[in-house]
Amino acid sequence: MVSRVIPVEPFDLIIFGATGDLARRKILPGLYRRFAAGQIPPQSRIIGAARSEMDHDGFRAFAAEAITEFVDASKRSEAEIARFTERLFYVTLDAKGDTGWPELAQMMRPDVVQAFYLSVGPVLFGAIAERLHQHGIATPESRIVVEKPFGRDLATARELNAMLASHFAERQIYRIDHYLGKETVQNLMAVRFANILFEPLWNTQYVDHVQITVAETVGVGGRAAYYDRAGAMRDMVQNHMMQLLCLIAMEPPYSFNPDAVRDEKLKVIRALEPVGPDDTVRGQYRGRPAQGGTPAEPSYAQDAGTPQSRTESYIALKVMIANWRWKGTPFYLRTGKKLRARASEIAIVFKEPPHSIFGEGEGWRENVLAIRLQPNEGMNLSVMIKEPGPGGMRLTEVPLDMSFAEALGEEGTDIPDAYERLIMDVIRGNQTLFMRGDEVEAAWAWTDPIIAEWEARSEKPKGYDPGSSGPEDALMLLHRDGRRWREIRE
Ligand code: BG6
Repeated sequence: MVSRVIPVEPFDLIIFGATGDLARRKILPGLYRRFAAGQIPPQSRIIGAARSEMDHDGFRAFAAEAITEFVDASKRSEAEIARFTERLFYVTLDAKGDTGWPELAQMMRPDVVQAFYLSVGPVLFGAIAERLHQHGIATPESRIVVEKPFGRDLATARELNAMLASHFAERQIYRIDHYLGKETVQNLMAVRFANILFEPLWNTQYVDHVQITVAETVGVGGRAAYYDRAGAMRDMVQNHMMQLLCLIAMEPPYSFNPDAVRDEKLKVIRALEPVGPDDTVRGQYRGRPAQGGTPAEPSYAQDAGTPQSRTESYIALKVMIANWRWKGTPFYLRTGKKLRARASEIAIVFKEPPHSIFGEGEGWRENVLAIRLQPNEGMNLSVMIKEPGPGGMRLTEVPLDMSFAEALGEEGTDIPDAYERLIMDVIRGNQTLFMRGDEVEAAWAWTDPIIAEWEARSEKPKGYDPGSSGPEDALMLLHRDGRRWREIRE
């Protein structure tokens, strides 16, 4: 299969916070990969803006190092890196003061797409947006890209939205949820809406329940200061998992245009039932003493530096959707740090056939469509067949397994990073994979009471061992409904 790369229009991308971790790990390496693939026209420029004193060459060296560290050796060359970094420029700038802004204003070109990437904390969004206007840098056509966390509750998200709206129109604002840039997440829409096969079954009549799992093996490590104020609910559920749930649950949009898709997602969020305390389980990873050759592992509380921390590093929830399509079908969500494996998966578990002509207990298992987000992207549909050989009609389950890597060859393994896709969409002016302001607010409106309830009860999360599947109570969340979680494995 030949990959089709369609170049974007020439652009100036201004990255605020250009010397930060996200720029180093994701944005600059991602841009390099798009450049190497021939998608970025040579007239384009990437302008780093940050507080550090640095000149253009300093920033080029910084980017070259980041690319060498984060782009696979087989996908980079010295010559290509040199060609790429020629397009890089830098301005030392104080987001809250006057330094650097006139210089940045002078660098702007009116005849190319202009995008401002705010790879900085939300406390700086206002100051930057204001100065972009004061100095006549932003135009009615410029695009502004913001990162999560987009607020920490409904009130703060509203403030951010209002502040952005005072400087930019909604069509100019790109709120990144990097899960929407993941190839397999987009595949969810293709599977649902480009095949006749699944849609007729995609409702409460045929779907018993849905499981959404995002399991990580890493702890909170160096991000503890942020994470301890967020927890898994704010960090993963309000945004990434909510987006996954929306893509599974939404009605078919009338077209694949940004507002058609986002309108449908919004309807799902608004139809979510409130979640009571019995339908959530919060966990926090324990530590482990040194054993044999293995060094000790810190507990969450040690990582966070707050021995009494009540922040959850794991959460499982039972979510119900009050609409015609889904009434009665639970969506079980779970995500956590320091779990057994890094594995993200959506499993659609179908109901039993209405009547078994083969009798009870003949090896029947439910059909499951498992969509594997990462790693080993792919899809697997489990189907019942007859167990081969004589001895009567016994049933056995076989997988209709499609690994994207196997089915698509190099293209299946050479999956672009979410950021690459999303940044190119900003340049193309396509907002489909970005969250609209009302979506973010609706997600917080659903999340806030759940968090408020925990805070009122001031309950400590349940402990779980590193490398496990999470706290025992999470098993109960499904057991009591006569169901069980799928195994977490790579
Ligand atoms: C981020 C969260 O948004 O997503 C992190 O803040 C989490 O806590 C990360 O580790 C997971 O992203 P990915 O792409 O590795 O699944």
